[in-house]
Amino acid sequence: MSPDRKLGVGVIGALAWADKAHLPGYAHYDRCRRVAICDILPERARHLADKFGFERIYDNVEAMLADPDIDMVDICTPTDTHLALSRQVLAAGKHVLCEKPIALNAADAFGLAREANEKALRTKVGFTFRYSPALKQMKQWIVDGTMGEIYHVQGFQQNSQWLDPMFPLRQYSEIPPGEKLLPASIVGYGSHLVDLLRWLAGDFKAVSSLMRNFVPERIVRGQEGLKRLPIDDGTVAIIDYESGAQGTLQTSFVAIGNYPGIEIRIYGSKGAAIGRLVVENGIAETLHFATPDQVEFREVELPPESFPPGATINTPWPELYYRQLVRDWTDEILDDLPADNTFIDGAKSQDIVDAIVLSQKERRWVSLPLHKEP
Ligand SMILES: NC(=O)c1ccc[n+]([C@@H]2O[C@H](COP(=O)([O-])OP(=O)(O)OC[C@H]3O[C@@H](n4cnc5c(N)ncnc54)[C@H](O)[C@@H]3O)[C@@H](O)[C@H]2O)c1
Repeated sequence: MSPDRKLGVGVIGALAWADKAHLPGYAHYDRCRRVAICDILPERARHLADKFGFERIYDNVEAMLADPDIDMVDICTPTDTHLALSRQVLAAGKHVLCEKPIALNAADAFGLAREANEKALRTKVGFTFRYSPALKQMKQWIVDGTMGEIYHVQGFQQNSQWLDPMFPLRQYSEIPPGEKLLPASIVGYGSHLVDLLRWLAGDFKAVSSLMRNFVPERIVRGQEGLKRLPIDDGTVAIIDYESGAQGTLQTSFVAIGNYPGIEIRIYGSKGAAIGRLVVENGIAETLHFATPDQVEFREVELPPESFPPGATINTPWPELYYRQLVRDWTDEILDDLPADNTFIDGAKSQDIVDAIVLSQKERRWVSLPLHKEP
């Protein structure tokens, strides 16, 4: 492909996350041509197209998919639309980036991955935190042997948005028939955490979980009054890794602490590392490292080249991580680079989430994979 060729970008969904994360990514990478933004509410598309310099807007997906200047479509809409929109984009013969989770169960997610492979189209999941400089450094230390054999892997996620029952719930409005506990924190935030723990330390052999509702009644978006909706406010799980490592994870809607609220600790035979993606004092993240001969954890300074050009440790985290995601994804397509963080990863993360939910339901260990890769 010509070195001057740009990737024609179309974005579906023009609300908060597109504004904070996706669109700054395209505006900061000159290999992207900002072609169009689509929203069923066109005033939203207009507002963000003007703000980020996109050429045109659409108010329906079919019209945008017919635009010949668009090579790749970015789906940044509510979760229950991801599967159908991804299918539409693939059917139109365009590459697709979709926010997590790409589907509501692993079978559908694997189906999407298969469709993309059959059409030789590229896919990418909005697994934001893979693009953290601290976590990329941790991954490098695991791959190059700096950490030695990995013994313990711990992933924590804190978020206290739904501690307040008056903060409107948007994931559910009714209790589906037969459901006693509605998977929530493990789906919305757990899909990220599960992906990170798999990306860093390999495939899971089995999981065992405990999910719990702590705030029984809440306000629901678009409805009046408090409503009883037994969502999972917190999930803890233990992980038996294929490698023999031990893992633990916790996701939460009610754990107090700042965003994005991810903490990963890895303990190996030669080194231990703690990556904290928690905004404190304007700093997006920190990384600490210890060795057997120096057991006091010391802070590791992340080199400027581990940040996307123009970004620093003080850049707001959605933009910091998405600027890198957009660069990697654009280069991957334009330069025909090896694929990474694809819909297969989205499907595998979903498969593990499904297993964690099944473990809670049946009060037992669940072996993985539940669904085989196509
Ligand atoms: N990766 C992350 O770290 C992260 C963080 C926050 C949000 N998210 C995800 O980003 C997505 C967007 O979240 P949000 O809070 O910005 O807004 P949202 O999901 O409430 O809505 C986004 C926009 O999509 C539009 N829309 C809905 N259906 C559409 C359709 N069929 N065609 C065109 N437009 C349509 C809506 O009008 C709205 O303006 C969600 O899936 C959310 O889970 C991911």
